[in-house]
Amino acid sequence: MSSSDHLFFFYLLLLSSMLTSTLLADVITDDDHLALLAFKNGVSSDPSGALSSWNEGHVHFCNWTGVSCARKHPNRVTALKLSELGLGGFISPSIANLSFIQSIELSVNGFSGEVPPEFGRLHRLHYLNLSFNALHGMVPVNLANCSKLRFLSLAYNQLTGSIPVELGQTLPKLEILALGNNSLTGVIPSSIGNLSSLTLLSLALNNLQGIIPEELGRLSSLINFRVSINSLNGSIPPVLFNISSLHYFSVAVNQLHGTLPPSLGAKLPKLTTLYLGGNKLSGTIPASLSNASMLQIIDPSTNKFSGTVPPVFGGMDALFVLNLEENQFQASDAKDLNFIDSLVNCSNLQAFSVAHNDLGGVLPLSIANFSKELRYLLVGYNHFSGIIPHGIGNLISLNSMDFSGNDLTGKIPEHIGNLQKLQRLGSIPEFLEDLEFLTVLDLSYNHFHGELPVKGVFGNSSAVLSVAGNGERPVDERFKDGMTMRKFVEICASHDRIMEVIDQSMFSQEQEDGDIEHGDISSLRKKIECLVSVVALGIACSVESPNDRLGMNEVAAQMHAVRDKLVEFGVHGEVKQEVSPAKLTIPLIYSWHSPTDIDR
Ligand SMILES: *[C@@H]1O[C@H](CO)[C@@H](O)[C@H](O)[C@H]1NC(C)=O
Ligand SMILES: *[C@@H]1O[C@H](CO)[C@@H](O)[C@H](O)[C@H]1NC(C)=O
Ligand SMILES: *[C@@H]1O[C@H](CO)[C@@H](O)[C@H](O)[C@H]1NC(C)=O
Ligand SMILES: *[C@@H]1O[C@H](CO)[C@@H](O)[C@H](O)[C@H]1NC(C)=O
Ligand SMILES: *[C@@H]1O[C@H](CO)[C@@H](O)[C@H](O)[C@H]1NC(C)=O
Ligand SMILES: *[C@@H]1O[C@H](CO)[C@@H](O)[C@H](O)[C@H]1NC(C)=O
Ligand SMILES: *[C@@H]1O[C@H](CO)[C@@H](O)[C@H](O)[C@H]1NC(C)=O
Ligand SMILES: *[C@@H]1O[C@H](CO)[C@@H](O)[C@H](O)[C@H]1NC(C)=O
Ligand SMILES: *[C@@H]1O[C@H](CO)[C@@H](O)[C@H](O)[C@H]1NC(C)=O
Ligand SMILES: *[C@@H]1O[C@H](CO)[C@@H](O)[C@H](O)[C@H]1NC(C)=O
Ligand SMILES: *[C@@H]1O[C@H](CO)[C@@H](O)[C@H](O)[C@H]1NC(C)=O
Ligand SMILES: *[C@@H]1O[C@H](CO)[C@@H](O)[C@H](O)[C@H]1NC(C)=O
Repeated sequence: MSSSDHLFFFYLLLLSSMLTSTLLADVITDDDHLALLAFKNGVSSDPSGALSSWNEGHVHFCNWTGVSCARKHPNRVTALKLSELGLGGFISPSIANLSFIQSIELSVNGFSGEVPPEFGRLHRLHYLNLSFNALHGMVPVNLANCSKLRFLSLAYNQLTGSIPVELGQTLPKLEILALGNNSLTGVIPSSIGNLSSLTLLSLALNNLQGIIPEELGRLSSLINFRVSINSLNGSIPPVLFNISSLHYFSVAVNQLHGTLPPSLGAKLPKLTTLYLGGNKLSGTIPASLSNASMLQIIDPSTNKFSGTVPPVFGGMDALFVLNLEENQFQASDAKDLNFIDSLVNCSNLQAFSVAHNDLGGVLPLSIANFSKELRYLLVGYNHFSGIIPHGIGNLISLNSMDFSGNDLTGKIPEHIGNLQKLQRLGSIPEFLEDLEFLTVLDLSYNHFHGELPVKGVFGNSSAVLSVAGNGERPVDERFKDGMTMRKFVEICASHDRIMEVIDQSMFSQEQEDGDIEHGDISSLRKKIECLVSVVALGIACSVESPNDRLGMNEVAAQMHAVRDKLVEFGVHGEVKQEVSPAKLTIPLIYSWHSPTDIDR
């Protein structure tokens, strides 16, 4: 090559590098600046003034709030982070002109309008979080062009339409796909099974139909699987339980049927959460569940499971919630109830329910040896016989206990061991008074008899206590000739006789305030009127058959009405909004309704 050739090539190089840098530094830089200003234009509300630095003034746009630029290309925007700022308006498609951008974080704002399909032009994008906004429209199929995408969350919006099949075909790096709490329809695309890096798949709280595709069994990195609260049918593909990376598995509240595979827990060493509730699943709980020893929450409630519950919980040190409520689990003797004994090892247990099943036999005394952390103990509506063990007084954290609808008695079945320490046999055990945190106690529809204790939950008018439907009469003179407490209250539920069933101490406050001395009879009359309503409601809530009892919404509405009346009268004193629940269940904080089940 001659020296002039060299020179020629030198000039050529110089020229092309000048051209490139001109293009990059000037033309495109200007584009980023303009694109940001156009984005700001779409923001119609900015209560905290986050975008006040975003203007034509002397501050370079790379220093605007929420904007980051590349180090190598100092005028190119790489990240936009504007979350939790209360921003409203629409997301301008101009963001798609920020061709260097890798990360867009606009979660927890009030953006409405659509997810701009133009985002499909962002080939460098690896993080897109638009969760917790008010976005409408579809999940843009163009997002499938963002082949570097690793985190995609559009959860907690109002998106409609179906999940684009393409997302499963062109996003091999996707680790998080969070579309929960939208209004998505259609099926779960089987192509999602191609996303081999996926660790979180959250599609909960949508209107998805069809089956859970077997292809999802190929998601070998999956940690979180959440499809609860949809309309999915078919059975749970057994292959999903072969994904040994799983921590969290929730398919609650769908229309799934079929049985669980016999090897259910054999390959789930890391599983902490198993929500299966609110489906039509049947068959038994496999004994192999014992191998999933990290489990914290086991909730197959409200299904058609049957058979005996295997005694598999003894090795689950972290078990926190066991909710077997509303199934057809059976037991007829102590052996069948071994699973209850196996729970004494679970020192973190906070909620235990077997309510509404087909469990018979003597209520195991081992419940008294449950964790001192236990807050909910719900065994109502089975056929348990026997007594409430004295040792339950040790469960100092108990908040709600439900023994209703069983065959529990005050008499001790002979084959149960040494119970010398039990006092006041034949009555509702007095030791229940000592449970400091107990606010809900349902003993209704059993065979307890004798006097009611007076302290603790029994003496606390703001706690919820039900002793309705116990066959034997209280010791009081008035309760003869088959008069039950419920009938008595029913008869007295009128203005004339209400005082016979009301705790007189409820009126001591008025006396202290001198209301009655000052002849303020109208306040008293109004209060009585409210009491009559509440008592009538209580009667409606304690109808013998649980199915005939009022629904909680109705009860709450009526109690609100009573409260409003009281407030309107200006009568002081607080009326409790809750009354004895028609069906006591594990509270929502422990259930699949928990927001953590939907996730990002
Ligand atoms: C975005 O880019 C397109 C084409 O590249 C251009 O027509 C448009 O004006 C740009 N918009 C903004 C706001 O920069
Ligand atoms: C951003 O601000 C910092 C200091 O406030 C300054 O050092 C830096 O040069 C600014 N960056 C740009 C791109 O103007
Ligand atoms: C993105 O994807 C859509 C549909 O898959 C396609 O029509 C389009 O050409 C792609 N490219 C861009 C830049 O959006
Ligand atoms: C779902 O999102 C709506 C708002 O779109 C919100 O009101 C609702 O509380 C969310 N549901 C749950 C369970 O978080
Ligand atoms: C993705 O999955 C679908 C359906 O499961 C399959 O037909 C397709 O070939 C897969 N594509 C890729 C790129 O793996
Ligand atoms: C499952 O749901 C789909 C879509 O709603 C429906 O077409 C199908 O018949 C259902 N299958 C069963 C077994 O219920
Ligand atoms: C689960 O994996 C085992 C081998 O590890 C295999 O034998 C079995 O068939 C798999 N189960 C399903 C349902 O694919
Ligand atoms: C799983 O549990 C079953 C029943 O408890 C037991 O027989 C089996 O050995 C366990 N398998 C593994 C892999 O731990
Ligand atoms: C309780 O744990 C101990 C040791 O941690 C174990 O030996 C025992 O079998 C467990 N009990 C039950 C009922 O599983
Ligand atoms: C409960 O624990 C006590 C003390 O550890 C023990 O003596 C008793 O046998 C246990 N009772 C039951 C029914 O497990
Ligand atoms: C009575 O019950 C309420 C809750 O229902 C509780 O907040 C309060 O502390 C209890 N009072 C007593 C004296 O136990
Ligand atoms: C998206 O934003 C929400 C709310 O700020 C956050 O909880 C979630 O972790 C984010 N998602 C990802 C994938 O980072």
